[in-house]
Amino acid sequence: MKIAVLPGDGIGTEIVEQAVRVLNALDLKLEMETALVGGAAYDAHGHPLPEATLKLAKEADAVLFGAVGDWKYDTLDRPLRPEQAILGLRKNLGLFANFRPAICYEQLVGASSLKPELVAGLDILIIRELTGDIYFGQPRGRRVSPDGHFPGAEEAFDTMRYSRPEIERIARVAFEAARKRNKRVTSVDKANVLETFQLWKDVVTEIGKEYPDVALDHMYVDNAAMQLVKAPKKFDVVVTGNMFGDILSDAAAMLTGSIGMLPSASLNSSNQGLYEPSHGSAPDIAGQGVANPLATILSAAMMLRFSLNQVAAADRIEAAVQKVLAQGLRTPDIYSEGTTKVGTREMGDAVLKALG
Ligand code: IPM
Ligand code: MG
Repeated sequence: MKIAVLPGDGIGTEIVEQAVRVLNALDLKLEMETALVGGAAYDAHGHPLPEATLKLAKEADAVLFGAVGDWKYDTLDRPLRPEQAILGLRKNLGLFANFRPAICYEQLVGASSLKPELVAGLDILIIRELTGDIYFGQPRGRRVSPDGHFPGAEEAFDTMRYSRPEIERIARVAFEAARKRNKRVTSVDKANVLETFQLWKDVVTEIGKEYPDVALDHMYVDNAAMQLVKAPKKFDVVVTGNMFGDILSDAAAMLTGSIGMLPSASLNSSNQGLYEPSHGSAPDIAGQGVANPLATILSAAMMLRFSLNQVAAADRIEAAVQKVLAQGLRTPDIYSEGTTKVGTREMGDAVLKALG
């Protein structure tokens, strides 16, 4: 089992280090190779996703990814910015299905910005399409406006588009996932305004007929954003496009107390996957040893479960995380009075110990 380890920028290196320690403690035959990605790769090789890094990722069974980005790269040409590394990996590996679970751990109910009764027991799964939509749609660019409100003015444009097969395959992923959960899918769209999402809605409805045991409903994205903060427990599986999924998954993350807790998996059709915390590189706290490594450690567990077929090992990691939370250990992002504040490495130590 070959794992490409791509720590990236900011807190990426610190949190991935802890996840690697946990993986190494499991006595599995894991072959891990590390490479530069994002700003770190740009600094060393002049490109955020060097050929060698992409090759390593393609040849691996799974990629463990930290985070990329830093304000200091914001003025670079877009193809050289750190974010292009993750977008390039998604595209080149065909990682179209992004799983973003939002689970509110019992011990962290108080860390959510919502009232405890709204989030206690929360367990929803956002499935975000990851290789289409306005993120990748062509044409895009800047030009002199040929028409519109201000002909002759400078303008920029992107293209939102989805093809039927792209929608079909992500819909199937969602219905299959729902079958293993509470058998409900909410498809989020903007069919009241956008052609792209009228097709989305039509196709998801069609595919839904193949899954009569799964209840399907549809929600406009603005309403979905509202319902997520009003009654989040009403959701089971949410399936949506790339951009809406980007936005809704950050909102869902906060329900759980901290985005520092949320793992994610991005899979292609052969179950090869990229696993990363849902949060970013947090340059403001990088290098201070205070970042929460749990999202990355939980991402490593997802990797074992989804791509490496090591379910028992995944269970062990998840149980260990529960245990350290029960012990009252908290990084600053989830700290509350009466608990014990620890740093990144101490949290890693505690998980290692709790593995038993
Ligand atoms: C995410 C991030 C990325 C995205 C950025 C870093 C390109 O926000 O994974 O949610 O927009 O998809
Ligand atoms: Mg995002």
